[in-house]
Amino acid sequence: MTRPQSEQAPENQPTGARPDAAHPAAQYPSVGRVPGRPQVQKPELDPKVRNSAFLKAARGEKADYTPVWFMRQAGRYMPEYRALRAGKSMLDCIRTPDLAAEITLQPVGAFPLDAAILFNDILTPLPTMGLSLDFVGGVGPVIHNPITTTKDVDMLGVPATAETMPYTAESIRLLVPELNSRGIPLIGFVGAPFTLASYAIEGKGSRNYEKTKRFMYAEPAAWERLMGKFEALLADYLTEQVKAGASAVQIFDSWVGALSIYDYQTFVKPATGRLIERVKALGVPVIYFGTGATHLMPDMASLGSDVMGADWRTPLDKAWGLVQRGQSIQGNLDPLLLQAPWRELKHQTDRILAEANGRPGHIFNVGHGLLPETPMDAVMRVTEYVHERTQKA
Ligand code: CP3
Repeated sequence: MTRPQSEQAPENQPTGARPDAAHPAAQYPSVGRVPGRPQVQKPELDPKVRNSAFLKAARGEKADYTPVWFMRQAGRYMPEYRALRAGKSMLDCIRTPDLAAEITLQPVGAFPLDAAILFNDILTPLPTMGLSLDFVGGVGPVIHNPITTTKDVDMLGVPATAETMPYTAESIRLLVPELNSRGIPLIGFVGAPFTLASYAIEGKGSRNYEKTKRFMYAEPAAWERLMGKFEALLADYLTEQVKAGASAVQIFDSWVGALSIYDYQTFVKPATGRLIERVKALGVPVIYFGTGATHLMPDMASLGSDVMGADWRTPLDKAWGLVQRGQSIQGNLDPLLLQAPWRELKHQTDRILAEANGRPGHIFNVGHGLLPETPMDAVMRVTEYVHERTQKA
């Protein structure tokens, strides 16, 4: 007998892992089978967007010039962002589609960037699972009830993201007509299972991820259940984003570089691989990014994303030797170079373009997010410079 939808265990979630009735996540129905295969219903791509330099490069096709966008391109370095954010919390802005859409448009209005990325955060899903999140000024994200026991893992909800985060799809639906009229693709995103688990367990950012690793080694079965819960929720969340009109998605595994190759293969690769496989079935390019993770690149790349993010530590020509045939690469200017004199910024931009050597699948980006001290004119200058230097006659 088929159980009613709300009682069905999400895929990859062991039975007995139901959030209890008192739990904040219990009010929402659980994710059932996540639609992934066959392709979901999504809006027809605008032809200008489909043929944009960004999507061509993401698909590994020749583009008219090397496309440019920047991770954290919306943020405190922009006075218009600071003005809009004044007096409002990060989560309020994310949960208010008009505001999230307006912030998303700020950088693409100010600079000739080739893609927009939705204004949101990788940690937004955590409260929907039962973790209490705050962005604390000067500190960063803080989780007040981090995971410490296996029971905490089993208490986490895996609610349907259309119910718990409807504002994300709504923000995307507001943005798509506006971005289509400008021929600009919209990137949706999530954090990867390991990086989200690191916040859920540490309760904040960390240097060495000691609590996370301790939990992973001591409680491998609960760790696997945790990875499975993130896999289910994130696949559902990216499905919602693509259905609403995101034309590419990025999976941020920012802190995965803290792991050895063995630990990545053993504890992280399986669930992340299943996530990427499910997201690829949505039919939009998938970008997978980590920092300090050059040693993991062959394993990460083997999960089959269309694009691999390269952080600023590794030269692009070397990175190309570590990924799969036909995979595109996004990167990899050190974000601090945007605070260097133009002479140095130009020199290193030339170096990166020389390392990319005209390969069709290069998306120019920073090797980690833009910093709050970034001067606006450096962002403008480097974007224009990459376009000019790479423009095909
Ligand atoms: O790129 C974009 O413009 C889209 C928006 C975006 C934000 N966060 C907005 C944000 C994206 C893609 C993220 C991803 C994110 N968030 C990551 C992965 C990328 C990376 O940097 O490794 C991580 C690890 C987070 C978690 C997070 N959110 C941290 C550590 C912080 C505090 C650090 C800081 O810069 O203040 C945030 C807050 C945050 N997320 C801000 C922004 C614009 C700053 C909030 C503010 O205005 O004070």
